[in-house]
Amino acid sequence: MNIVLLGAPGAGKGTQASKLEQKYNLLHISTGDIFRANIKGGTPIGKLAKSYIDAGQLVPDEVTCDIVKDRLTWQDAANGYMLDGFPRNLFQAEKLDEFAHIDLCVNISVEFSLLMDRICGRRVCSCGESYHISTLGGRTTCAKCGQPLYQRADDNPETVQARLNTYNTQTAPLIDYYKKQGKLVTVVSGEGSPDEVFVQICKEIDNFKAQQ
Ligand code: AP5
Ligand code: MG
Repeated sequence: MNIVLLGAPGAGKGTQASKLEQKYNLLHISTGDIFRANIKGGTPIGKLAKSYIDAGQLVPDEVTCDIVKDRLTWQDAANGYMLDGFPRNLFQAEKLDEFAHIDLCVNISVEFSLLMDRICGRRVCSCGESYHISTLGGRTTCAKCGQPLYQRADDNPETVQARLNTYNTQTAPLIDYYKKQGKLVTVVSGEGSPDEVFVQICKEIDNFKAQQ
């Protein structure tokens, strides 16, 4: 089963993908994580991506689509995957339909007023786990692997505002794109805890599977 996780910055795509990965044995592919690994490694892709990410803008489509197209050919994607942060505009969505079959698009919907706090309070681990300072109780290391937590370079108020604007103008239209394809389910993450949102998403995935 191949899933697109759609949602604004801070909606909880990464948080939910990490839970879903364990339950359904689906590969988690995050274009943001791929770019950050390239920045850390100082690769040409990382050098190109950094300026766009720091400005809250999208990395050019050709680069991003080639990365995803290639990643989907790896053996570990054969059992199904979740795309987190891809596609992010109509061009990418149409390209994706040329090289992959998407079964379901899970749109994680959150009131915009909650996002700034969620993102600026986020602390992440290089193992992929993500936390919010309000739930850490002062802890500075990852509960899963013990490594030190840190704040993402693009998690500052100015860049977050630019990312939200980019989402509104370029990514939000994908809700309609997947609705027209009959593949859209929407879960609301504003009022529920991550575990409650997870239950909603599992229900949608299980419903979909039962209909196959
Ligand atoms: P990316 O890394 O994808 O960032 P994003 O879309 O801005 O999303 P985030 O990772 O910030 O949020 P999330 O939805 O994963 O939320 P999380 O689970 O962490 O992309 C970064 C940049 O890379 C882009 O700006 C762009 O430049 C570039 N890029 C990436 N993909 C691209 C593409 N396809 N094309 C071009 N450029 C691309 O949760 C957030 C916080 O909220 C955490 O603290 C978490 O603990 C908390 N939280 C989660 N759920 C809940 C809940 N239910 N209740 C309370 N708190 C919660
Ligand atoms: Mg994320």
